Amino acid sequence: MLAAVLAGGVDCAAAQAPARADAVVAAPRPAIAFGAAWYPEQWPESRWETDLQLMQQAGFDTVRIAEFAWSTMEPSEGHFEFAWLDRAIAAASRHSIRVVLGTPTAAPPVWMGERHPDILRVDEDGTRASHGARRHFSYASHRYRAYARRIVREMARRYGHDRRVVGWQLDNEIGPPSFDAEARARWHGFLAGRFGTIAALNRAWSTAYWSQAYQRFDQVPLHASGPQNPGLLLEARHFQTALWREYLMDQAAVLRTATDPAQFITTNTMFWNDGFDHYAVHEGLDLAAWDDYIQDPEPDWVANGANHDLVWGYKQKNFWLMETQAGRVDWVGVNRALRPGQVREMGWQAVMHGADAVLYWQFRPAPNGQETNYGTLLSPDGQPAPVYGEIARLGAEFARAGAALADTTPEARVAMLWSYDSRWAIDLQRMHRDYDPVAEFTDFYRPLRQLSGGVAVLPARADLEAFPLVVAPNLNVLSEEDANHLAAYVRGGGHLVLGPRTGQKDPYDALWPDRQPGPLRATLGASVEQYYVLDGHVALDGLAPADGPPASAWRWAEALVPEAGDVQVLARYRDPGGWLDGRAAVVTRPVGRGHITYVAAWLEPAAMRELARTLMARSGLALVATADAPGLEIGVRGAPGRRTLVAINHADSALPLALPPGASLLLGSLDGGRMAPHDVVLATLPPEATP
Ligand code: GLA
Repeated sequence: MLAAVLAGGVDCAAAQAPARADAVVAAPRPAIAFGAAWYPEQWPESRWETDLQLMQQAGFDTVRIAEFAWSTMEPSEGHFEFAWLDRAIAAASRHSIRVVLGTPTAAPPVWMGERHPDILRVDEDGTRASHGARRHFSYASHRYRAYARRIVREMARRYGHDRRVVGWQLDNEIGPPSFDAEARARWHGFLAGRFGTIAALNRAWSTAYWSQAYQRFDQVPLHASGPQNPGLLLEARHFQTALWREYLMDQAAVLRTATDPAQFITTNTMFWNDGFDHYAVHEGLDLAAWDDYIQDPEPDWVANGANHDLVWGYKQKNFWLMETQAGRVDWVGVNRALRPGQVREMGWQAVMHGADAVLYWQFRPAPNGQETNYGTLLSPDGQPAPVYGEIARLGAEFARAGAALADTTPEARVAMLWSYDSRWAIDLQRMHRDYDPVAEFTDFYRPLRQLSGGVAVLPARADLEAFPLVVAPNLNVLSEEDANHLAAYVRGGGHLVLGPRTGQKDPYDALWPDRQPGPLRATLGASVEQYYVLDGHVALDGLAPADGPPASAWRWAEALVPEAGDVQVLARYRDPGGWLDGRAAVVTRPVGRGHITYVAAWLEPAAMRELARTLMARSGLALVATADAPGLEIGVRGAPGRRTLVAINHADSALPLALPPGASLLLGSLDGGRMAPHDVVLATLPPEATP
């Protein structure tokens, strides 16, 4: 049948016959859920069976539906229409396709804003949103939340114990804050709760500066950007985090009382979105889910992998890839499609990094609307688009590898620490226009991932004991609590590596009255005497590979001063006539049973790579066999007694892949020990083997 479909025609007779009358019970849980966003409300019902048949033939077992269907579910206030959704869920189930239900609150219907304009979002400049796009609601509005609870309650009553519904997605890509009157009033209440007295706020933000001193909380403006006090702007992010968390928990509370606990509750987030602290927002959810879109026509696979690892860290467990592209996106300057094979690579990469589901956005384009040009599995005529075959192949592979991958999680020997407060604090006062904290983090991540074959991205407060090496590239905001936790990790035997700008700021974004790394200065036994913003490169002695050009720092360099007798200098700046000349750039020190290292500069890639090698060696970690093949990405998913290696050749040429003794091929092939370009290989690994 698949061949017939690809040859150019849907077999409509077969497609319209109900798949199996007995399939109305829930389909079994697949190891890797596979599917797409489906919008039955956009199509005549007569087309559903054909579309579902095509999904089933692509290996789909899951659809996400209804996340923008509020106007179809509640066409007028208090009047609910679910019969169509009942039929859509039943139709999907007849094709053994399970359902994730989206709560539709990212797109309120027109009657609501017309009757109550106060539910509409207000921009920072005071403009109120109008109907016709999405995310035009205010997350602070009590009225809006009441409407949201009501539709969620109606959905939960109807589907909360339906075994064909496996989970709930709250809203869709939450993000834009609102600056309406209710939001501002809540901001003032938030500040009162956080600071207690206005004097405490004035102290924390140093408001004597520029005559900012406030007399009452209700005088404090609400801003997310602009020339405001960075302490205020950081607190505004905390406020946004609190409101988004509350907004989601408001819906989750309704679901928790009216649904079967077997149905998970999640929300889908975006990229390195910095609108709120994702660790805090995910606390009350069952699992994390995100939407992975590659904007650059030449995918940076390492950076994309870092994003997966970031999302894994939100709950420190496997996540869902709730949306990903079936070819191209429609919102960058040049929306080039991924090349043949790259959609498959993207799917396998997600699984390697811990996705337990891969869903495409979207199955087919709506006939009209803002996103008709997006990459999809079907063309506008309802026939499979060229990428359909590649996606169907991936589905067949997921099914084959399912038993090996079921209930496994990605292995990592290195952890990296990420902090939203630090990202915001650096972004608010970059000092160098190119000091993008995500880019700096990714520069540290790149060689560590390549050399170690697995990196866990975690918040600073996470349990770190299992990791011989923990790298924190930019913990600019460092609380005493986190510093104590990290120092305990070091004393217990770990190797903690701190990057530039560490420990400069307290939790209010004020300067610690100490040298960097602030509350970790005593543990490090060294401190930063001064930092320098670089407009070029500064050479470094001590980090160059034997056969390469000298290592160098760029964008940022700090001069370190050893203070304890047992501090060892691993690299020094060579900056004739400059402030940095001869000063220490990397220092390390044994503490308790472990070590602490400080890297005082943003290193260019070759030096970063050399540094990563040094750090791995000093932490007793062996390099993976693919360490010197940058186009080859590997990762291991394991469970007690089972380990599966996933290898992806992202390059345009064949690359060698040496499997460790005792490994056996599960999927794909090795031709003379080489992986074909853009190919994928899975192999079972013996316990303890380094891949
Ligand atoms: C996001 C949204 C989808 C769709 C895609 C297209 O991920 O969640 O509704 O708009 O973007 O990029």
